[in-house]
Amino acid sequence: MWNERRGEKPLALQAKGDPLLGAIAFAVCQGCHGMEALGEVDGTYPRLAGQHASVLIKQLADVGAGIRDNRKMYPFAEEHVVTTQELADIAAYLSALSVTEEHGIGPGTDLERGRSL
Ligand code: HEC
Repeated sequence: MWNERRGEKPLALQAKGDPLLGAIAFAVCQGCHGMEALGEVDGTYPRLAGQHASVLIKQLADVGAGIRDNRKMYPFAEEHVVTTQELADIAAYLSALSVTEEHGIGPGTDLERGRSL
């Protein structure tokens, strides 16, 4: 059920996203996800930059459909705030953003534990 292709999701996946329009539509998201969509290092606000467009569309459509419980984002995933076309546009914009190489890399003090994990 979590991966059924119904509602807004298949429509947004089929739409051709325009990254320039996506950059404009992303303005309402920047307060939490950051100007460059890099989120917070501790993960409370996830990095969206560089994620696959299909993943971004699925997550946002799931929040909009109430399948992914994300209270902070409910007001921003509604159709009157982000249309299906804007969803495709935002995904096209975000997926094309580059991510700095250092992002998410720790200090390297616990490499043995990391290897075993
Ligand atoms: C009020 C703060 C807030 C705003 C505004 C907001 N988000 Fe989020 N968003 C979050 C939080 C917090 C999470 C992570 C919640 C969780 O882990 O379930 C999240 C998660 C996501 C995810 C899932 C990322 C992942 O890696 O799983 C996507 C995609 C996303 N947001 C897109 C957007 C878009 C696009 C907008 C604007 C239309 C937006 N968000 C606006 C707070 C916000």
